[in-house]
Amino acid sequence: MLSRRLVWVFVFCASLIPFILLLRDAITENLGANPIETLHLSLGDWALRFLCFTLALTPLKILTGQRWPVRFRRMLGLFSFFYASLHLMVYLVLDLSFSWEQFVDEIPKSPYILVGLFTYSLLLILAVTSPKVMKKKCGRHWKKIHQLIYLAAISTLVHFFWLVKLEMTEPLIYSVFIGCMLMIRLVFITK
Ligand code: HEM
Repeated sequence: MLSRRLVWVFVFCASLIPFILLLRDAITENLGANPIETLHLSLGDWALRFLCFTLALTPLKILTGQRWPVRFRRMLGLFSFFYASLHLMVYLVLDLSFSWEQFVDEIPKSPYILVGLFTYSLLLILAVTSPKVMKKKCGRHWKKIHQLIYLAAISTLVHFFWLVKLEMTEPLIYSVFIGCMLMIRLVFITK
């Protein structure tokens, strides 16, 4: 029981490391020539990485036959939401200085922003329904609601592919990873 708690604390602290390092670099002005862009893009990357970690836990359980990986699903999913919220906040507060007019103007020019907002609303639904009390309230619908994570992963990839103009390597790597995680689930769970 104690070792389980220690592992939980370890994973929690490790998940905060990207945030702490970015905060340190922001305070020490070490974010390069365009600090707001660096901060914004890094937070988007971490939101996607935590989504990938969350998606990897069920396949890990299937492949190892161990139950422990799924115990971290809620925490890692909430960390994806945490980094996505900071990604959105940096964009609205530091990039656009809360200019809603500019935000609305940006949407037709950069439709990936709309896809980002759609993804964020899915993550919000997942975060709000993640506590045990909500699981109870949602009853048999809870599992269906939480399958929205797959849609969130796919729409994050659309968001990413849409905004990169030339360099496709990074979104392609994430696509292969997410594709493999979905395939493992489909093959083993529908068997
Ligand atoms: C909440 C609404 C969102 C808005 C308004 C938004 C907006 C943006 C913008 C403006 C960029 C940068 C485009 C550029 O400078 O070229 C970006 C990049 C990115 N966003 Fe979002 N985003 C949102 C949600 C999300 C979510 C929910 C995720 C992931 C779960 C995400 C992941 C990313 C990634 C991975 C990148 C690319 C980072 C890179 O190039 O390394 N975004 N987003």
